Amino acid sequence: MSEDLLRLEHLSIDYKVKGGYLSAVNDVNLKIKKGEILAVVGESGCGKSTVAHSIMNLLPGGNESVEGRIMFRGENLRDYSWSEMEKIRGKHIGMIFQNPLDSLNPVYTTGDQVQEAILMDKVDKVIAWQKVCDLFNDVKMPDAETRARSFPHELSGGMRQRVMIAMMLSREPELLIADEPTTALDVTIEAQILEIIKDLKHTHNTAIMMITHNFGLVAEVADKVAVMYAGELIEYADVFEIFENPQHPYTKLLMKALPRGTKKEGRLQIIDGSVPRILDKKPGCRFANRCPYAQERCFNETPREVEVAEDHTCRCFLAEEKKEV
Ligand SMILES: Nc1ncnc2c1ncn2[C@@H]1O[C@H](COP(=O)(O)OP(=O)(O)OP(=O)(O)O)[C@@H](O)[C@H]1O
Ligand code: SF4
Ligand SMILES: [Mg+2]
Repeated sequence: MSEDLLRLEHLSIDYKVKGGYLSAVNDVNLKIKKGEILAVVGESGCGKSTVAHSIMNLLPGGNESVEGRIMFRGENLRDYSWSEMEKIRGKHIGMIFQNPLDSLNPVYTTGDQVQEAILMDKVDKVIAWQKVCDLFNDVKMPDAETRARSFPHELSGGMRQRVMIAMMLSREPELLIADEPTTALDVTIEAQILEIIKDLKHTHNTAIMMITHNFGLVAEVADKVAVMYAGELIEYADVFEIFENPQHPYTKLLMKALPRGTKKEGRLQIIDGSVPRILDKKPGCRFANRCPYAQERCFNETPREVEVAEDHTCRCFLAEEKKEV
């Protein structure tokens, strides 16, 4: 069995806010193997970006408290100094942000920015530029060489996202974290970008953590799926298992809401109510106020994460009870 590349162990993150601490991530256990695509799904505010930023040690700093372990290649990244983390970022773990304009420098051409990333690995300048052009072709950039000499504002949203992917690819990281990489794009471009991301798995054996609101995308690309709700991982399983045999009431509702006959669409705005902000870590299930199966104990006790089948976990009393039978 291949080893886990990344393991989050009991990861909890609280932000200090007016009125106390906001529990953005609570006791999350998650793993990803080499070459595997893990989709992290959940409604807005459920802690997906917080998890991603904590792996990169890019939390805003100052107002958060973090507990648990972030094991990458067997070492806890939380023990790393800032300069040790600098060596990991980009080279071993790459990240694609939701808005590529924020991540690109407006005063340099896109090609120069990708070349700069390549030069960090002490490559000759001419070879580096050739690699830029090859990468722009790999990410199917139209008219690659001209675009490499363009500034970010001269490119469309989809093209900028391709530049970001090229930049990440240039350093061949083992793990790529893509935080909603296609949300801002139209459907055709979204599909093309997803194809590029999927190819990475085959060509570079890159492991990918793909964060998305769109459950439909999950079926297209993922090997494993993690469903988050209000800071907690409420279900984790193989993509086939999660579509065929969902256990958590929230996951089931998401499945039911997908249009019939196709699992290709499905943004998560379909269940009544909204994700609560947890300012007070009192016992209880965080989904109880929206759950059609809630019983009294759901409001007073906290469900444990249980393994309902091999590599399939769920945090719900119904799953616990099933296990006990
Ligand atoms: N720097 C911060 N200070 C205080 N609260 C924060 C901070 N960053 C995020 N939060 C809060 O933490 C919770 C989780 O936010 P996060 O951005 O991780 O969610 P998300 O799942 O990525 O949402 P989205 O899908 O909208 O991107 C939210 O309630 C958010 O308001
Ligand atoms: S623990 Fe209770 S409230 Fe929470 S999801 Fe399960 S049945 Fe619903
Ligand atoms: Mg986010």
